Amino acid sequence: MAKRNIIIAPDPRLKKVCLPVDNIDEETAILMTDMLETMYAAPGVGLAAPQVGVHKRIIVVDTARGDESPAPHMIANPEILWSSDETKIHEEGCLSLPTYYEELVRPDRIKVRYINEKNETRELEVEGLLSVVIQHEMDHLDGVLFVDHISSLKRGMILRKLKKTKKLDIQGDD
Ligand code: NI
Repeated sequence: MAKRNIIIAPDPRLKKVCLPVDNIDEETAILMTDMLETMYAAPGVGLAAPQVGVHKRIIVVDTARGDESPAPHMIANPEILWSSDETKIHEEGCLSLPTYYEELVRPDRIKVRYINEKNETRELEVEGLLSVVIQHEMDHLDGVLFVDHISSLKRGMILRKLKKTKKLDIQGDD
């Protein structure tokens, strides 16, 4: 396994629509385990392939808490089959938008179909945090960031600040 670099917004690579994978070949399996390692190291509860610069429909998720054993999900080509009318508010953050958090409303429960790391088709019905994280990561596959769900005024402010921070980081490396 190898850690990969997480792309920070604003960046055009985070705005691209990703393509489905045909099947889980060795390269894709390596990508999935690399993404998990990158996510755990961050640390985070979810990561989407475009965040490491790969435009494939792949996400990894693990919402187990510190005292629970790891519960990783490696997910390719996720599709939402059903979502509840009932919604919940969660505070969301993103490894590509460090230090920013906003409250977002999403369906509480979803049923999702996907291909796992063993190339098996699976269906999963989830609620609460796991549901939110899967929906958040699936947005990334269509070039959507959580700030795209908030007001353009707030989004503009966050992205401008991140851009400024990135410039300062680059100057600092000289
Ligand atoms: Ni994210």
